Amino acid sequence: MERGKEEAPGKVGLIGLGAYTPDRIMTNEEWTRHVDTSDEWIRSRTGIERRRIAAEDQTTVDLAEQAALRALEDAGLPIDEIDEIIVATDTPEVYIPDTSAFLQHRLQAPNVSAFDLAGSGCAGFLQALDVARSRVLGGRQHVLVVGVELLTRLMNWKDRNTCVLFGDAAGAAVVARSSSAVEILSATAGTDGSKADVLALEMGGTRTPFSEEGARLDLHHDIVMKGREVFKEAVRRMSQAAREVLEQAGETLDRVSLVVPHQANRRIIDAVARVLGLASDKVFMNVQEFGNTGSASIPLALVQARDAGRVRTGDLVLLTSFGAGFHWGATLLQF
Ligand SMILES: CC(C)(COP(=O)(O)OP(=O)(O)OC[C@H]1O[C@@H](n2cnc3c(N)ncnc32)[C@H](O)[C@@H]1OP(=O)(O)O)[C@@H](O)C(=O)NCCC(=O)NCCS
Repeated sequence: MERGKEEAPGKVGLIGLGAYTPDRIMTNEEWTRHVDTSDEWIRSRTGIERRRIAAEDQTTVDLAEQAALRALEDAGLPIDEIDEIIVATDTPEVYIPDTSAFLQHRLQAPNVSAFDLAGSGCAGFLQALDVARSRVLGGRQHVLVVGVELLTRLMNWKDRNTCVLFGDAAGAAVVARSSSAVEILSATAGTDGSKADVLALEMGGTRTPFSEEGARLDLHHDIVMKGREVFKEAVRRMSQAAREVLEQAGETLDRVSLVVPHQANRRIIDAVARVLGLASDKVFMNVQEFGNTGSASIPLALVQARDAGRVRTGDLVLLTSFGAGFHWGATLLQF
């Protein structure tokens, strides 16, 4: 993304984007060696054909660093010009401190403040983007936002209900005020905490502290998920958020060139398209290649959509997401 020569007040948005996916590809067939499943079941229920798995010596910060460096390069910015880092992840480097501290150090940015937004699952990146936008409106120059997930490291490889769904990736954006920014026209977010237990990883918190017994029962990677409920709410909330963000910007769906939804499941994406009345060529999908990569899913999809020439200057692009919490959100961009 080319940086603007002169700064135009009022246009806050993305000036750089980057993504990283680990090299190792794991097919559905490979999952049949771990759990009682089949390529046919996974494809037909989720649309997923393969996903990326981080190498054994890679951790969350390694993925985050690669995506961050690519976003910085895309923005044409050295790290010294970043004045804040926000990391959205549910699969942190360690329990305390947060991943942003490791990333700040790795990027050699000792004067940059950094923090994580954790726990909102796949909705994390859009939340972080919204926060970054308000930080720039509040006077920050350049905020680096990273969505990173190394889900395959923390999930239960013996639970077929969840393990086949996820993959590892990172995506990043630099948010700033610039005449050439991909403008964030509007952003919306919502939460329904009454559904906090429907998609959750409980062990390790104060409700269920780590214990020997818990570890013996593998509870530390026991992701509880009521799949059908998650499915229905994901469709409802992502569609609702999409409508809200359009209304906020005074725009209509027929003017949107591309919708980039959270890549959880092909059936969820198809259902959102049906509810909104969208033609399939207006919806970007890469879930078949990467599975659900949590908070990395939206930036990864956005980078791929852009690099594949799916968006042109002037296009409206709508991002919509949903995750544990339940949290959801949408963002309307103008390229
Ligand atoms: C998980 C999901 C794919 C299951 O699909 P579904 O059509 O709802 O599946 P159903 O509930 O009809 O069937 C579940 C059955 O398949 C089985 N099953 C679950 N995972 C399986 C797998 N990987 N392989 C084979 N069978 C599997 C279950 O054990 C269950 O069997 P049973 O009926 O004998 O108990 C679907 O509910 C979903 O996508 N939910 C949203 C998940 C999600 O995206 N989470 C992240 C949100 S950000």
